[in-house]
Amino acid sequence: MPKTITRRLRRFSFLLLIAFIAAWHSPTQAEPRPQARIIGGHAAKASAWPSATLLKLRLANGDTRLCAGNLIASTWILTVAHCFHDQNNKQIIFAADVTAYPGASDVGALSPGDSATVVSVFIHPQFAEAADFDYDFALLELAYPLDTPAASLARARPETDELATAIGWGIQALNPVSLQPLSGSLAQQLQQVTIPVTSDAECREAMGGGVTDNMLCAGYKEGGKDSCNGDSGGPLMVYRDGRYSQIGLVSFGIGCAQPNRYGVYARLTSALPWITELVPQAILNTAPRAERKQVSRLAPENSDNATPAAPTNTNLKGDEGALDPQPRSGGGSMAWLELLGLLRLSRARVRS
Ligand code: ARG
Repeated sequence: MPKTITRRLRRFSFLLLIAFIAAWHSPTQAEPRPQARIIGGHAAKASAWPSATLLKLRLANGDTRLCAGNLIASTWILTVAHCFHDQNNKQIIFAADVTAYPGASDVGALSPGDSATVVSVFIHPQFAEAADFDYDFALLELAYPLDTPAASLARARPETDELATAIGWGIQALNPVSLQPLSGSLAQQLQQVTIPVTSDAECREAMGGGVTDNMLCAGYKEGGKDSCNGDSGGPLMVYRDGRYSQIGLVSFGIGCAQPNRYGVYARLTSALPWITELVPQAILNTAPRAERKQVSRLAPENSDNATPAAPTNTNLKGDEGALDPQPRSGGGSMAWLELLGLLRLSRARVRS
């Protein structure tokens, strides 16, 4: 009798397995699937990224442009140059137009007292001449030093497929019909998403000739996870040697989170000579490029011991796939976990 039950349960588990695999591999979505967060990420834990800085830039017509930056020393915020320029490559935003909120988390909870005064905007000297966002770097100098822990900068270029985390308060959703970024969907809470670094060859193939050596791409070929408008200037970081280090800055894309397109990031190592000249006290992480496996194992979202230098996040909602060797968007890994759980459950029952 127990043997029959065992056999039945085995057959049931097997059928369940087949059903799951079939569901997983079925060609997905004739309809556009809903997108959420940074795009496809999740809310960061409050104070997980103390150096993250929200930038509100006042335009001449009274509108506000939203960008992000990263505190890299007590009086310096690193961001992108294009936030301060118009389409004709002319600087239109100056220090007096900038309100910076270092360590911001919830946009709705900010008060004027949370802002830091910006006294100067430095644009990378090679940005002004260049078209296409080459050398997309800017530094903002603050009037007073902050106690907030500053971010560290990676000295080594990232490895292809190395997992990297982008953060920002930008657009979280796409128009379900046009798939264009939905302007009304800016994040209230700082968002984060983990995506692999793309090889330079694939980046150029997908994004065209405008990609220079001073840029890098990140994202999944199938799309679904990306930074988006409003995230510009926010850091892209890798976890190396027990802490996060910045490797890029959100710069541009073609739409957001589209398949066969990648997010383009200003490549931090290209700006290191300029940054260290202006900010000699910047913290450089000299750890070598991480092994892929190591990065996956140490990825922040899986770790439970939070430290300021290596922020952690146990809220896995919607971003677990980023830690898979071959992740799929849409909670694929959840399905696997559920499946494994069910199999284990059925075995346990059989035994008892
Ligand atoms: N240029 C945009 C901004 O100013 C950033 C766009 C990033 N796009 C992307 N697909 N990753 O906010």
